Formats: sequence, structure tokens, C-alpha cells
Amino acid sequence: MQQILPKKEVKKLLGRYPNKDAALMPLLRAIQMKEGYISKEAEQYAAAILELHPSRVREVVAFYSMFREKPEGKHLILVCESISCALLGSETILEHLKKRLGIGIGETTADQHFTLETAECLACCDQAPAVMINDELFGPVTPEELDRILEEKQKAVDSGQ
Ligand code: FES
Repeated sequence: MQQILPKKEVKKLLGRYPNKDAALMPLLRAIQMKEGYISKEAEQYAAAILELHPSRVREVVAFYSMFREKPEGKHLILVCESISCALLGSETILEHLKKRLGIGIGETTADQHFTLETAECLACCDQAPAVMINDELFGPVTPEELDRILEEKQKAVDSGQ
């Protein structure tokens, strides 16, 4: 089985919890930090380390939306769907992005450059409709402005930045 985390890190992590079941969430978080998502192999790995039935790990990964089951693109695009942004056109923004990128919510473009997600309030309601790309906030955005931003991001990926 593939060794995802260094043995020393796993030992340290397990030492912080009273039992192996309690270490499941932190272990999955550590795996996701390293790999970007939780693969089927990673689920097997976590189950083996914690001596849990693989179905228990599957259940946790499937239940908590914080765990990604597919690799994320280089740029994670979050479109705010909360009230201020919804009133000022987040639906139009989302539809524009779906069409432009050719993907749905929770999906990643085939070139692995962009992942599209919706989000709750991004805490910049005065800039609605707001979009976050990785850790950068944009708002208020229009479809045209997003096209320009995405072209810049695409160029950055193409040039290896
Ligand atoms: S409602 Fe969109 S940023 Fe607050």
C-alpha cells in the first residue's frame, strides 16, 4: 500500500487522540492537505492505519463536504450564493462560468486548471456579486470582467506561475 504521509507524522498525529477512531478526521485532513483530495487509495490507507473498516472511512469522506473526492484544479473558483450576491446576480455569474469552463459545480476542467464551487457568504457583501479564486477576492464582478480574470489566470498557469 502506498505510504501517503511520513510514518513519523502519522505517529505524532495518533498520539494526540485517545483512540484511533477519534484520529480519523484529523488524519483525513492531513491526507487532503498533502494530496489535495481523498482518493480511494487514501481511504484504504486511512482505514489500514486506524484499523477501521473501509466503509467507516468512506462514510466520513462522503458525509463531510470539506473532503474532496476528486483532484482540485490549480484555481479553485468560489461563487458566493448568499443573499446579497444572489440579489445582485450570482446566478448569472455562475451560469457564465459553467458555460465558459464547460463544467458544473464541483467539477474540474480537463486540463486541471479550474474547479468551480459555490460558497456561502465570502464576507465582502458590499462587493456583491463576489467571487473568490484561491485566496483572492473579486467583486463586484461581471461576466466580462471574469473572462478577463480567467484569461490572466490561464496565462499564469501556462507560463508555469
Ligand atoms: S453575500 Fe456574497 S459576500 Fe456576503
